[in-house]
Parts: sequence; C-alpha cells; structure tokens
Amino acid sequence: MNAVATPSIRFARTAAVFTCILAALAGLMFGLDIGVISGATPFIQKEFQVSDHTIEWIVSSMMLGAAIGALGASWMSAMLGRKRSLILGAVLFVLGSLLCGGAASAQMLVAARFVLGLAIGIATFTAPLYLAEVAPERIRGAMISLYQLMITIGILVAFLSDTAFSYTGNWRWMLGVIAIPGALFLLGLLLLPDSPRWLMMRGRTQHAREVLQRLRGDEAVAQRELADIAEQLSTPQRGWHLFLENANFRRSVGLGVLLQLMQQFTGMNVVMYYAPRIFQNMGYDQHAQLWFTAIVGLTNVLATFIAIGLVDKLGRKPILYVGFTVMALGLGVVGTMMHNGIATHAQQLFTVTMLLVFIVGFAMSAGPLIWTLCSEVQPLKGRDFGIGCSTFTNWIANMIVGATFLSLLNGIGNAATFWLYGGLNLCFIALTLWLVPETKGVTLEQIERNLMAGLPLRRIGTPSVADPAPMTRDMPVGSLQGERV
Ligand code: BGC
Repeated sequence: MNAVATPSIRFARTAAVFTCILAALAGLMFGLDIGVISGATPFIQKEFQVSDHTIEWIVSSMMLGAAIGALGASWMSAMLGRKRSLILGAVLFVLGSLLCGGAASAQMLVAARFVLGLAIGIATFTAPLYLAEVAPERIRGAMISLYQLMITIGILVAFLSDTAFSYTGNWRWMLGVIAIPGALFLLGLLLLPDSPRWLMMRGRTQHAREVLQRLRGDEAVAQRELADIAEQLSTPQRGWHLFLENANFRRSVGLGVLLQLMQQFTGMNVVMYYAPRIFQNMGYDQHAQLWFTAIVGLTNVLATFIAIGLVDKLGRKPILYVGFTVMALGLGVVGTMMHNGIATHAQQLFTVTMLLVFIVGFAMSAGPLIWTLCSEVQPLKGRDFGIGCSTFTNWIANMIVGATFLSLLNGIGNAATFWLYGGLNLCFIALTLWLVPETKGVTLEQIERNLMAGLPLRRIGTPSVADPAPMTRDMPVGSLQGERV
C-alpha cells in the first residue's frame, strides 16, 4: 500500500472512494426510512381517523419487514451478489415510498411500510458487507464510519423534510418524496462494480482480479488482496452447526443478541418515531413539535462525532457506562418533569434539553458502539451467522419498542413510560459491567481464542502477552457491521 501514487493509482483511489460513498448512501436511505414517519403520523391519524394502536402498526410494520429483509438478504447477497441485492433493495425502496405516499387506507399504509422495511433490511445487511469488501484497507474504517454517520444524516434530512411539508399538512408528500433520493441511489448503484470477494466465492477469479485492479490501480496490491480473500474463503462459514455443537459460540451469539436488545431498549427509537407526540405532551404546538424534532435529528448527527473521536482512545466500555448513565439521567428527569406537570416556558425548555441530553447519550455510545461490538465478538467460522442473529434481534426489538410506546403512554402514563426506559438504562450499566468485554486494541483472533478457551464474556477482550500491537480493532467507530467479513 506504500506504492508511489502514480496517476493511475490516484485515479483508482478516487474510483474506490466514489464507489464506497455510493454504497454508504444506503445508510442515508436507512435513516430516511427511520426518520420519515414521526412527522407524518399526526396527519395520518387525522385523515384516516385511526387509533393509536393502528398508528403503532403503521410505524412498526417497517421494522418487521426489515427483520425479514435482513434474513433474506444473507441468502440473496450470497446467491445474487451484493450489487444485485442492493439494486433490489433500492427498487423496493422506491416502490415502497410511492406506495406509502399513495396509500388509500391505513391498512395499505401498513403494507407499504412493510415493503419499505424489506428494502431497508436488505440494505442494512448488504451495504456494510459490500463496503468492507471493496474499500481499500487504508480507508476502510473511515468509509464504514461514514455509513454510520449517513444513517443519522438520513434521519435528520427526513425530520427537516417533514417539517417543511408540515406547513401544508401533506403527509403523502412527506412519505413519497424519499422516492427521489431512492431513485438517484438506484441509478448510482448501476455504476458499482461487483464485490471482488463475492466474485471469488462464485469462482470468478479473473473477474475479481480485474475489479480489484480497477479499484486499486496497482497490480501487486490487487494480487495480494486476491490472495488474502482466497485465504479467508478457505475458512468455511458453518454458523448453525457451530451453534449446535459449541457452547462457547452460543455464548458469543447470546452476547450479540443481548447487546442489540440493550441498544433498542435504551428507548432511542421511541424518540425517533414519536418525537412530535412527545413534544405535544410537553405542550408544544404542531410546528414547534416538528422543529424540535429536527433539533433532535441534528443533535443525533453531531453527537455521533463524539463516538467517532473517542472510541479508540477511551475504549468501548467507559463510553457505554457514560452513555447509559447520561441516558438514564435524561429520561429520568423527563419523566419527573412530566410527572410534576410542565406549566411554564422554562419548564418546557428544560424538559426538551433533557431529552436532547438523552439523545447525546445514545449517539455517543450505544448507537454506533453496539454495532462495533457485535461484529467483534463473533469467531470467524460463525461470524455471518452471529451477526445475522444480532441484526435480526435489532429489528425485532426495534419493532417491539415502536409497537408499544403509545400503548405504554396510554396505559401507564407519560412519566412512568420514561422512568421505565430510564430504569432499563440503569440495568444496562450493570449488564455492561457484568457481561460486556473491552475489545479496544485486541486482535479478532485473540478475542476468538479467549472465547473458545471459556473465559468469562467480560474478559474475552483480554490481550495476550504474545499479541501483536493493536491493529485492525483500532479502526474508527464504524468498523462495526463491516467487520463481519
Ligand atoms: C440504531 C437504530 C437507530 C439509530 C439512531 C442505530 O444505531 O440501530 O435503531 O434508529 O441508531 O441514530
């Protein structure tokens, strides 16, 4: 990689970066999908005259679709290839958005959101995989961080667009307009090369070599990467069998599942999907509700940079402790304010600020770091299976959170609902202490050795004396999903 940068290498590097940016746009689609519904629900509820329960279904059918899409994508990305899977995801995205915008009934909206979910499930599984496979080693971490950041930017853009459309109350445009970035994404995808790793999996070595040469601009580098891929492929994935046979692997799968449950039950998506309703309950009018929702989105983007800057300096666990504490505090105070009654302007602003504190807590910690950890703790032989299980859990838990929030508000009340999530965040501090390993600066191989030697989960990140200097783990936050390869 230290080759002198000739014009052809520079050209190839630009092509590789362009390729990665295009694929990272899948993150933007993911974010648009998560963000777009919150501003639309008040208008949908008014037009279709439906109950809170139906609204919960409109929100969460997307997550059900995403869970199923992610499951299907692991098979599809192996059979059809990463590029074709992404294209299919983008087509479904455009179709789903248009169907949402044109839905004639709440039931049709539930079905259209399900299609949109399928699209996002496919994209969230395939894009990080593709990125990790085409990005040059030198910029791989940065490129995958970009993907993570794109998710938060997508959420923000959706919040802003919802705010703009709220002046005419046109929820159909809110939901339909994201078909435009979807269509542009689809066109861009057509320019992408196939993933060299997938080509190798299909025995198309010559084609893989050509793609790598085009992306690296250097024959020797391309040849070396080709050899690395061939070596990796010689370790067959045998996830399900390993799961049945090996208790240590079951522990790491269980840890991945637990980590994603923790991420979702922080309550973050309650705010992502229902922020306007929360601001309404604080006493704000419709436009203020949507503007504050946009500020939530901006805070989410900016605080993600804290994680990117700190994760490889402070490590995963200290950041998680701080994050869960901040989240528990934020939600605890919001609950208390709601319990006591929010009467004055100052009380309103203070409550909003504490909700933003909660958002900062999530975006600087559990948001990106859970994905990082989930990819780090699985042994190579079972990595695809392990990450598949945790990603599936992420969407199912996401659905449960989305499908129960309004019922919780109506059942146990505002204050108790926020206290409940605040309390869960406190429990997660204990769970982090008890079960989560510190993986900063430790090789994947060492983590795997520790796991298979039966060390307690919280100690599987212990470096060995013989371990080489910190390496691949020390990539920026987003190493996350992409590490699955
Ligand atoms: C989570 C999503 C969440 C998003 C918010 C992601 O890490 O998996 O469920 O909506 O962060 O930024």
